[in-house]
Amino acid sequence: MSQESTVPGELGDPAVRAGEPPEPGAVTIVVPTFNESGNIRELLHRITESVPSRLPCEVLFVDDSTDDTPDVIVRAAQDCPFPVTLLHREEPVGGLGGAVVEGLKAAGSDWIVVMDGDLQHPPSLVPELIGTGERTNAGLVVASRYIKGGSRAGLAGGYRIAVSRGATWLAKTLFPRRLRGISDPMSGFFAIRRSAVTAEILQPLGYKILLELAVRSRPREVTEVPFVFQERFAGRSKSTAQEGFRFLRHLVGLRTASPLARMVAFGLIGASGFVPNLLGLWALTRLGVHYLPAEILANQLGVAWNFLLIEHLLFRERRRHRRWWDRVGRFALLANADLVLRIPLIATLVGTFGVGVLPATALALVMTFVLRFVGTEALVYLPRRSRTPGSGSRTSRRAA
Ligand code: GDD
Ligand code: MN
Repeated sequence: MSQESTVPGELGDPAVRAGEPPEPGAVTIVVPTFNESGNIRELLHRITESVPSRLPCEVLFVDDSTDDTPDVIVRAAQDCPFPVTLLHREEPVGGLGGAVVEGLKAAGSDWIVVMDGDLQHPPSLVPELIGTGERTNAGLVVASRYIKGGSRAGLAGGYRIAVSRGATWLAKTLFPRRLRGISDPMSGFFAIRRSAVTAEILQPLGYKILLELAVRSRPREVTEVPFVFQERFAGRSKSTAQEGFRFLRHLVGLRTASPLARMVAFGLIGASGFVPNLLGLWALTRLGVHYLPAEILANQLGVAWNFLLIEHLLFRERRRHRRWWDRVGRFALLANADLVLRIPLIATLVGTFGVGVLPATALALVMTFVLRFVGTEALVYLPRRSRTPGSGSRTSRRAA
């Protein structure tokens, strides 16, 4: 099969298309790649070996590489009995997650399989994923390391295993209902029916596509198939600590989509602020500062801590319309007003309304907390009007 033409890709970047477009009922295997030149040939070879000819298939690489991976793909594609498409992105919007979304957008077949390009996800499982989906009428089939028959044998090192296990636990704890029946929400290996790919999923989103899919628009039927996570064939993993932080942010973003959930998160972050507050107080008094000014200073430490967490975890997408010093100022003002307000409020509740001191204090805490949350939303992070979903610095570029 030869490389037939060079057509403009969905992103305005060159895309190379070899062969015919897939027939209906076929599968598009979406492979995100970042500097995987050593794996491409073997991957295509194993796909050729494992996908039976009665299952029409196409491979779509969504590539953000800075090395010669695109050239390797074009060359290797020529020996393939199925179409191979390369979508190279000059601008790697959204990293791995963004690449998968581009693949989901561009795929035209009934089934889409997403898998890694480093052979940690065995291509031999592709027919089984589709077959299971067809048989059980599922919209989503997850390849899982955590059910009987599966394993994470290829996950290198105790650290990676701990991180993976911790992330899975955290996700399942935060979304017990949505992730019921999905033992491996972190899996990057799954099959989805194109009819189950909703517009919502295709909005610019976070980092773990499967997680997002399950949480935001879970198909009615979800099935799992076990698999053994293999060793990497060649090259090195692209996972970094930064990706871990991105994942945390993604989880919080998904979890705090509703105002009530956001208020709970706001409260939890606020409570965590006691730690730097008390530490600061301890340090300052140790340094000989009088406890009253120390209280005030230490409180600012708690405020700063809360501000950073709230900025980066809770209102990350809502910061751009105000400058950072403006947000800091407003936030600090609200946080300190909270303290100043509470005492007269307690005095009024006790003096004027005859409430007991303890219930009055509790009531005042709750009232000032709610006020502070509402005030922070409204005065610091007021959402822009006419906000199209998912808009932000990224523009959503839909495939034609
Ligand atoms: N296009 C694109 N852009 N592809 C990327 C990028 C990116 O920024 N970063 C990584 N990839 C590709 C890699 O080239 C590879 O094909 C695949 O995404 C997975 O990347 P790895 O670097 O091999 O990740 P991993 O093995 O640490 O993580 C895998 O296992 C996790 C479970 O432990 C992935 O499958 C994760 O999705 C999965 O959660
Ligand atoms: Mn890998």
